[in-house]
Amino acid sequence: MTACLITGAGGFVGGALARSLIESRLARPSLPDRPVSGRLILTDQIPPPDWCPTDRADIVWMQGNIASATLLEQLFSEPVTAVAHLAGVVSGTAEADFDLGMRINLDATRALLERCMAQGRAGRPPRVVYASSIAVHGLPLPTAIHDHTPASPSLSYGVQKLINEILITEGSRRGWIDGISLRLAGVVIRPALPNGALSGFNSDLIRETLAARRVVSPVSPEAVIWLQSLSSARDAFATALAGSGGAPDGARVVQCPALAASIDEILRAVSALSGRDARAWVDFCPNPAIEPMFGRWPRRISFDRARRLNLPEDRDLTELIASAHAAT
Ligand SMILES: NC(=O)c1ccc[n+]([C@@H]2O[C@H](COP(=O)([O-])OP(=O)(O)OC[C@H]3O[C@@H](n4cnc5c(N)ncnc54)[C@H](O)[C@@H]3O)[C@@H](O)[C@H]2O)c1
Repeated sequence: MTACLITGAGGFVGGALARSLIESRLARPSLPDRPVSGRLILTDQIPPPDWCPTDRADIVWMQGNIASATLLEQLFSEPVTAVAHLAGVVSGTAEADFDLGMRINLDATRALLERCMAQGRAGRPPRVVYASSIAVHGLPLPTAIHDHTPASPSLSYGVQKLINEILITEGSRRGWIDGISLRLAGVVIRPALPNGALSGFNSDLIRETLAARRVVSPVSPEAVIWLQSLSSARDAFATALAGSGGAPDGARVVQCPALAASIDEILRAVSALSGRDARAWVDFCPNPAIEPMFGRWPRRISFDRARRLNLPEDRDLTELIASAHAAT
């Protein structure tokens, strides 16, 4: 038996991916060419959510710390054909606790990659799809971002993401894994539970104004952020898991398509959807530590690699917010 492994399967993006893989498996049980074959192994430090079936031999939830060697041993007890690695601590947590960020985001990822590479060295290189982030870009944020824009992180979180991207590129160059890193933008609309993401205000602003609740914005109305819908993030992972190789230019790092929008434009889109003036619910308190890093994303952007890989793309802000709202 082989396995497909999803880490961080209890999280916002990993959970959406795991659910869609389970749904397609339940809907088409005998389809041989489904993206991920073999057992579906879902892992997270939290217990299995309600949506995870507990009565199937081909769908397994393994609860544990991704930094634990014992858990890794269990996860790789059978050959793994594909891995979507989404477990990790997010930006604010990694910034507040350097050691924790290094342990979970870097050391645990390296240990997971070692497992994957050992399997590849024995002749079965697994597909590895890694959840990287636009946080690989740092201050001052570039005035334009293209596939070749050099990364220069200013947060520990971004440093950890960038190192992992390089390790995945190196493992792929050696043929020990078939890896690809997907840089996610601000995926919305995250549930209200605080998970420590410094950019979490993007979801807060949309969720709360849609529900006609007051919300504080740590950035000004002119601040520009990058957004992507949960469905586009989820489907980018599903597409990359089912695919092979890197981008057509050989690169193993791909920026997922995102929409650049100002807070004002976002609130106007929310107003159009809700029929209420969204701005009336927002108290603007721009934070000088947040605005330059999270509110100055360029509008001059291109996503050639992602487009050539047919990764999904949100094309319109109102549609993005409507689809993200429908997914909550
Ligand atoms: N959501 C975004 O906007 C965004 C943007 C860029 C990158 N990313 C990256 O995508 C991935 C998923 O993001 P998300 O928004 O779903 O985050 P999330 O916080 O909702 O999910 C992460 C999951 O990892 C799990 N986890 C954390 N530490 C763990 C540990 N030690 N052992 C086992 N599990 C552990 C958490 O329990 C959680 O379920 C992360 O790696 C994140 O850095 C997300």
